[in-house]
Amino acid sequence: MATQSDWTPRSWRDYPVTQSPHWPDLDHLHAVEAELAKKPPLVFAGEARRLQTQLAQASAGKAFLLQAGDCAESFHEASADAIRDKLKVILQMAVALTYAAGVPVIKVGRIAGQFAKPRSDDFEERQGIRLEAFRGHLVNSEEFSAEARRPDPDRLLAAYHQSVSTLNLLRAFTTGGFAALSRVHAWNQEFVANSLEGKRYEVIADEIERALAFMRACGIDLHDDQSLQGVDFFTSHEALILPYEQALTRQDSLTGDWYDCSAHLLWIGDRTRQLDGAHVAFLRGVANPLGLKVGPSMNVDELKALVEVLNPANTPGRLTLISRMGTERIAEKLPSLVQALRDEGRTELWTCDPMHGNTFKAVGGQKTRDFEDILSETAQFFAVHQELNTWPGGLHVELTGDDVTECLGGGSAWNEDDLDLNYTSICDPRLNATQSLDMAFHVAEFLRDFRRD
Ligand code: PEP
Ligand code: CO
Repeated sequence: MATQSDWTPRSWRDYPVTQSPHWPDLDHLHAVEAELAKKPPLVFAGEARRLQTQLAQASAGKAFLLQAGDCAESFHEASADAIRDKLKVILQMAVALTYAAGVPVIKVGRIAGQFAKPRSDDFEERQGIRLEAFRGHLVNSEEFSAEARRPDPDRLLAAYHQSVSTLNLLRAFTTGGFAALSRVHAWNQEFVANSLEGKRYEVIADEIERALAFMRACGIDLHDDQSLQGVDFFTSHEALILPYEQALTRQDSLTGDWYDCSAHLLWIGDRTRQLDGAHVAFLRGVANPLGLKVGPSMNVDELKALVEVLNPANTPGRLTLISRMGTERIAEKLPSLVQALRDEGRTELWTCDPMHGNTFKAVGGQKTRDFEDILSETAQFFAVHQELNTWPGGLHVELTGDDVTECLGGGSAWNEDDLDLNYTSICDPRLNATQSLDMAFHVAEFLRDFRRD
């Protein structure tokens, strides 16, 4: 493995690349890479450093990370409404968490670049026809035809452009007044407002409004306070398709460090975390804050080696570990990993992804997840950290602002017969806005009950 000093944005090419699409025309791919390399960065190094500083606070137990968004963003769904509604849900969840638990919430979207999907099988076979698996809109399309499934490098450019416009809108929403705390009521969408969760949210929103009115009456000028007028909102995605990530990697003129400017935070998926693989070889060299998915096949030695490579100086905020064990396995698998790092004085932030270990096929064949399993894994995550006296530092969920019927139960009480009513995910099932808010209220309670010794 290259040492940090001989790392370059292309040194990953000397290592085995898992989950790579079968690009039919490499010259075409290389031409697109060259074009992307000339494009402006999506995010700036200083912003990534700001996120890392906030994550360092979380790793010290003083903040909580909420990382949320689509499983896979879609080229078919990029409307301003859809982006705004996703942001609304995340802001609502953050309000519920902050209000009930009294901890600052760091908001990171799976958005503006979450276009690539790792697959368990490279190919998909239907009625004797075998085609490349759907790998996300960065690579190909979900329809089952040879044409749709052929990996197309032009999609890297399309994904870049959609990320640019998504990020532009997010920046406008988060700094242009929409995210001001005085608008806390406006984030409650109509279909959510009538639910139990929506009403519970209204109570908090009323109290926040009263508190703001009180401050105003005391002569405090709320317009002066940046933290009330807007929010920090950061982007993230799985760094899966390395030609795309490399092409957007730039050297920061201030520090000389390399940053992957496709997003603020990049994570390594559970299928691409091989210690001597290309994804680890690439991400170890960029200075962005990183995430690492930790699934049930991870063992203590492997995890110790990975944190050593990805965070050699044990820098707080550099590395977030995203546990995704499944509700059946978390109690058996997670404690020894958390304990091993704790005993070595490691600073990595632990967060819980209660989605990816709990996917199953419904009777109708749709991929789904049960709210009860999602909640149960999260509760067990908090219990493990309570037992070991470590900080349960965040929640990582797949959600949408729409009224979809993809996950069972929760605030919406959907069952298996309802899944076809409004199932629009092109990959994994997401919590809808009501279920997301329901989840936030539960996690707020877990946080409030968490005892620090
Ligand atoms: C994901 O986060 O969408 C994903 C594929 O996760 P994992 O790598 O944990 O399976
Ligand atoms: Co997913």
